[in-house]
Amino acid sequence: MSWQAIGIFDSGVGGLTVLREIFKVLPQEDTIYFGDTARVPYGTKSPGTVARYAHEITSFLIKRNIKLLVVACNTASAVALNGLKRQFPIPVVGVIEPGARRAVEVSRCGRIGVIGTAGTIKSSAYSRAIKRLNPDAEVLTRACPLFVPLAEEGWTDNQVARLTAQIYLQELRDAGVDTLVLGCTHYPLLKPIIAETMGPDVTLVDSAEETARTVAEILAKKKLLRPLSEKGNHHYYVSDIPAGFIRVGNRFLGERLEDVYQVSVDDEGEEC
Ligand code: DGL
Repeated sequence: MSWQAIGIFDSGVGGLTVLREIFKVLPQEDTIYFGDTARVPYGTKSPGTVARYAHEITSFLIKRNIKLLVVACNTASAVALNGLKRQFPIPVVGVIEPGARRAVEVSRCGRIGVIGTAGTIKSSAYSRAIKRLNPDAEVLTRACPLFVPLAEEGWTDNQVARLTAQIYLQELRDAGVDTLVLGCTHYPLLKPIIAETMGPDVTLVDSAEETARTVAEILAKKKLLRPLSEKGNHHYYVSDIPAGFIRVGNRFLGERLEDVYQVSVDDEGEEC
């Protein structure tokens, strides 16, 4: 049992920022990553569609005998997590709850900003999670959809990125939030510019880091951790040709992607 892999999925490359944090905390673990590159983005799609995709991908990963599933995509976590937890018999970890918990811990005045895709913000999943932990918290949200293509294009430190950040974040800054949750897989790549825009008094919460810590805690509690003497193997599946995923993904993961295979989840995961 303890030798199975951790499964992790996202709409595309974004979840590699979560995987990178898992590598740091759990270098001994095998991982299987699925990027739904044929159907990305999820952030603009309806909750029903995203939930269906999430269900298909989870079925695919479960067939590969994973011991725990990480829903690395904020949008999928926002709309599909509870359904996945009900339908599948393994621990399922999303990115919303860990990010919300950390935000409540670090916020000094309880005024917390959340940024994410249109789908994540519309779902109010972060606001609900934060309010559950601190009913007195004031949560201000803003969808920042253009951050996704900017991060994928590598435009994370130029005038376009700076101006986009200023326009998106002005309202949250003026409202005096003291904590800002980066509620999208892509936003950690824009962290320096977001930090510069929000100013030194605002603490940024990276859901990816918190999620990796949560995964480690759950595996330890369930005695499913591999011994530290092991070195993890990593496999990647995508639903479109791997070239674009590899090119952009190397930057998101911070290392070279290898073993990337194209599969189709709706025909029982046959490799093409
Ligand atoms: N991975 C998505 C998220 O974290 C961002 C990209 C998309 O819209 O699919 O919400």
